[in-house]
Amino acid sequence: MMKASNILLGYDFDKWYGYGAKEAITTDVSKKFNSHTLVCGMSGSGKSFLTNILFARLCLENGSEGQVYFADFKQDDQFSHLRNCPRYYPYDKSIEALNTVYEILHNRQSRKDKSRYPITLIWDEYMANILSIQNTDKKKADEIMRKVSEILMLGRSLGVRLVISCQRPDASAFPSGSRLNYGVIIIVGAPIRSIYEMLIPKEYIDRIGEREFMVGEGVVLLQGSQLEFIKIPLIRDVEKMQQICINALTK
Ligand SMILES: Nc1ncnc2c1ncn2[C@@H]1O[C@H](COP(=O)(O)OP(=O)(O)OP(=O)(O)O)[C@@H](O)[C@H]1O
Ligand SMILES: [Mg+2]
Repeated sequence: MMKASNILLGYDFDKWYGYGAKEAITTDVSKKFNSHTLVCGMSGSGKSFLTNILFARLCLENGSEGQVYFADFKQDDQFSHLRNCPRYYPYDKSIEALNTVYEILHNRQSRKDKSRYPITLIWDEYMANILSIQNTDKKKADEIMRKVSEILMLGRSLGVRLVISCQRPDASAFPSGSRLNYGVIIIVGAPIRSIYEMLIPKEYIDRIGEREFMVGEGVVLLQGSQLEFIKIPLIRDVEKMQQICINALTK
């Protein structure tokens, strides 16, 4: 039996506000489950902040052997601490990160590379990145999306994981049902019905009810079937978190 490898996503939203109780919402990021992650929400909803937290928690769970590549299309201030790291890929360099991770996937698939330690590609503002490439070179954008789809389909058993964030995951950058290939979907901030409709099965959307989410709160869909509402609190030791991420992009 493969052992579970749980990371904390946040705390149960209803219990947090209802009784001030902290009930952890976790997800298993071992190879047993699909841990490709999609974080969505409008501007300022807390996506990049959450991305930093997930990054650090994945590192702690992966242990020393995991490796992370970080693509930061917008060069967000939230990630300024990462700028000098060797595996930090700003703006148009993001595609280099994708290509490197894609090559690792293929080398593992062909058994040229027999290692299976966790490789994670974190890609902030994926949608904006794809749109900008589509505007100048449609073919190149298609090629990039094809690589993303392949990582989503083959990655789990080969230990290669994607963590993507974007505002609205429109079909133009998520071809042929690829939004369903994310085992962990998190939508933070103000409830935008059109985003829910892109990502959550209709019968689940009704369960959101009258809940109003603020920055750093929202909806989680795990393995396409488990719906949770979460509150992501601020973290105490930001510097420690940043140091974990810096180390992961450096070693
Ligand atoms: N969980 C949270 N709790 C409290 N405040 C938060 C939380 N997450 C983010 N914030 C605050 O909200 C602001 C916006 O967060 P963040 O930059 O992560 O949003 P974003 O969705 O990435 O926005 P953008 O689309 O502009 O990149 C930050 O300044 C941060 O301090
Ligand atoms: Mg951001």
